[in-house]
Amino acid sequence: MKALEIFESEHQTVLGKLRELRESVNRLREGAGVEAERGTLEDFNRLIEGDIRKHFKNEEEALFPVLGSVPGMRNGPITVMLAEHDILYNAFNEFNSGVEEENREQVINAGDKILTVLTDHIHKEDNVLFPMSRQYLRSDQLEEVDKRMVQ
Ligand SMILES: [Fe+2]
Repeated sequence: MKALEIFESEHQTVLGKLRELRESVNRLREGAGVEAERGTLEDFNRLIEGDIRKHFKNEEEALFPVLGSVPGMRNGPITVMLAEHDILYNAFNEFNSGVEEENREQVINAGDKILTVLTDHIHKEDNVLFPMSRQYLRSDQLEEVDKRMVQ
């Protein structure tokens, strides 16, 4: 698979898991304890620590540097995407320690942040950034992105 197709397919997996996270966070809000939700919460933590961090790293080190050579990209869309990755890295850490310490409020707050920011981030990439990449990158540049991907 090509890099952009890999990113898109990973987005679908993450969106599916976000639906499970949303249900779990709603149950916490309705009064369930972290202990009762541990299965779903730790499942999401594993996704963060594995696939999501790798996905972000591949975007940061394979796609963004190549796309950054297109005029207007670096100081526009890429800056926004990187800022959102930073917000999410912080939310992931909060989520992780909230689950560890069984801090219900912290898990709800970090979970809400992840749900809002990551859902919107994925939609921006799927509907704006990836179509722009296909439009503006030459085939040799797309190949360069493929080559930089870490499996
Ligand atoms: Fe992405």
